[in-house]
Amino acid sequence: MSDLYVVTGGAGFIGSHVAEALLARGDRVRIIDNFSTGRRGNLATFRDDVDLVEGDIRSYERAHKAVQGADYVIHLAALPSVPRSVQDPLTTNEVNVTGTLNILSASRDAGVRRVVFASSSSVYGASPDLPKRESLRPAPISPYGVSKLAAEQYCMAFNAVYDLEAVALRYFNVFGPRQDPQSQYSGVVALFLRLGAEGKPPTIFGDGNQTRDFTYVTNVATATLSAAASSTAVGRVINIACGQPHSVNELLAAVQAVVGKPVTPVYLAPREGDIEHSYADVSVARELLGYRPLVALDEGIRRTFDSAVDPSRED
Ligand SMILES: NC(=O)c1ccc[n+]([C@@H]2O[C@H](COP(=O)([O-])OP(=O)(O)OC[C@H]3O[C@@H](n4cnc5c(N)ncnc54)[C@H](O)[C@@H]3O)[C@@H](O)[C@H]2O)c1
Repeated sequence: MSDLYVVTGGAGFIGSHVAEALLARGDRVRIIDNFSTGRRGNLATFRDDVDLVEGDIRSYERAHKAVQGADYVIHLAALPSVPRSVQDPLTTNEVNVTGTLNILSASRDAGVRRVVFASSSSVYGASPDLPKRESLRPAPISPYGVSKLAAEQYCMAFNAVYDLEAVALRYFNVFGPRQDPQSQYSGVVALFLRLGAEGKPPTIFGDGNQTRDFTYVTNVATATLSAAASSTAVGRVINIACGQPHSVNELLAAVQAVVGKPVTPVYLAPREGDIEHSYADVSVARELLGYRPLVALDEGIRRTFDSAVDPSRED
């Protein structure tokens, strides 16, 4: 029988792509999600092919039930927003830290082979060192970044103490189809594309020269599956990104090119907890996962735009 993968947060943006990639290669998938930021529509094309557990990872019992019989757990469920964590650090901690501890404990108790955890570039904080290498000392400056670092450390501790195989992937600014363009916490690419298409001005916090390593979701899903399989990835923390800095103003220009009309932004003061520059060294991912970011920024923006216009063109 094929392996059973539990995808926590599988109704979310990245989780739905990971679930779909697993199904496409013939694996069995169970999703646990409480639909707090995820959407039923994200499951629409494969709902009948997955086992769905509706529940909250803040409950150990729910987590335990969800991982029973699993070979692998891909742990993506989280409150994935810096501004939200600044407004409500306690809830971010409960979901991102206690929730991860529940998933790790339940995975250990259920004899799961490996847990792959979605960490974040935000653990690097405001450190001026570029590119961000895994060997840099983490120094998060938002409650969200702290929660991701704590969860990462729990993964490594479970690997050391209980021999539970664990890998933490530090994703950098993921974008692509199904990223919620309506949420106030949305990723910047989804927001710019929506506002650009509607002819409304996007807000840029700061002067727009801040850089990010925008990473198309298919690159991330592929790397996540590799992390579940690679024997050398166990106990490692690995950057997943494109390895290229792009400014928010450059991103806006790329969005204008696909929507085919001018998009004039409103510039406001920088937000608390936001980081000025960030891009990754992806050589560890290349070496341990055989990772190659196959879809670059412009191509990813084009695919995201096309899928918003016509969802059947999503890949
Ligand atoms: N999108 C990015 O750019 C990015 C960057 C770095 C790291 N990450 C991490 O990747 C993961 C997925 O992010 P995403 O962008 O797909 O976000 P998302 O909000 O689309 O997905 C998160 C999913 O987790 C579910 N969830 C939240 N709280 C839950 C709970 N208590 N119990 C059960 N399910 C719960 C949500 O309903 C949602 O479906 C997160 O862990 C996030 O921190 C994302």
